[in-house]
Amino acid sequence: MKTDKPTILVVDDNSINIDLLLDILKGDYRFGVAKNGAKAFEYLEKNKPDLILLDVMMPEMDGFEVCKILKSDQRFNDIEIIFITALSDSKYIAQGFDMGAVDYITKPFKAAEVKARVSTHMSIKKMKESLNKQNVILEEQVKDKTAQLQEMFNATVCGMALMAETRDPYTAGHQHRVSQFACDIAIQMGLPDDQVESIRISGLLHDIGKIRIPVSLLNRPGKLLKAEWELIKMHPMVGYKILKNIPFPWPIADIVYQHHERIDGSGYPRGLTGKDILLEAKIMAVADVIEAISAHRPYRPALPIESALNEIKNQKGSLFDKAVVDSFLSGADILSKEYPPTPTPINDDDLIEEERNNPEKYSAIYPLRNSSVKN
Ligand SMILES: [Fe+2]
Repeated sequence: MKTDKPTILVVDDNSINIDLLLDILKGDYRFGVAKNGAKAFEYLEKNKPDLILLDVMMPEMDGFEVCKILKSDQRFNDIEIIFITALSDSKYIAQGFDMGAVDYITKPFKAAEVKARVSTHMSIKKMKESLNKQNVILEEQVKDKTAQLQEMFNATVCGMALMAETRDPYTAGHQHRVSQFACDIAIQMGLPDDQVESIRISGLLHDIGKIRIPVSLLNRPGKLLKAEWELIKMHPMVGYKILKNIPFPWPIADIVYQHHERIDGSGYPRGLTGKDILLEAKIMAVADVIEAISAHRPYRPALPIESALNEIKNQKGSLFDKAVVDSFLSGADILSKEYPPTPTPINDDDLIEEERNNPEKYSAIYPLRNSSVKN
């Protein structure tokens, strides 16, 4: 019959001592008995006691030797051991504790003392077990919460990316694709996971500063005037200002600030040169150009990928970092990879459709627009 009583293994070559200990402790515990070290290990192959009362002086294998083997075996090293011995010299007592025993009782032992010590160690063991269980539960809770926070963080970053892209349907998905290209280059370069993650996030947000640029400029086909171009060139700095107070564990705001800088100092907004540009920003610059050239723009159709490759090959070492370009070119599969779909930006067609389906709801808000929709 299964009982909740803790089990004690008594290891002693002297039958009188065994009987004495069993008599003192009876009632509160179940027992295993072994008259030498070998028998003790035989017992342990089939049973796991909560505590071992271990005699030190035994023929063949003494208690210290048994203890040493137990503490070096993963299966048994968590079993509490109390030495019971006639060796009362403090050097033996110290040796017992050094070997990992939790207590040391000297013979002739007193019943009350044995009972009290065994009971104390059983209580400590119970507390340890309950603490361990609690720790496992807490670890699980922390893991769940971390996953939740990570999910929320990702969704927030994607939401921020979408905010900028919604204003500029032509570049919708651009930040996601740049982020993916940049991560692939970073992986190809052998950068650590944490740095790849910083590149993923900064890629998703690198053009967030475009939120400050009038939509008419972003979507306009044709060449920009000088003043308009100056306005466009502000977006890395605007992005930096939006992001600089967010306590990311990476220099996301700085990467965004530098993503249009070029090695030879010809980039913007600050004209930084190679040594002052973060590696993450150098990677972003290459990924940004590859994506931009190979995507459709209001002022030109998508160009073949070879144009993008030629551009970065020709400008290797002058505009773009040599190591970054070489890594990109050596990862031939980066461009042929199937990327996961990007979040669908909200576009005017969706809004018009919504208004068309709910004319009463929107007529008060957009009377003019709604009347034109009806026609
Ligand atoms: Fe940009």
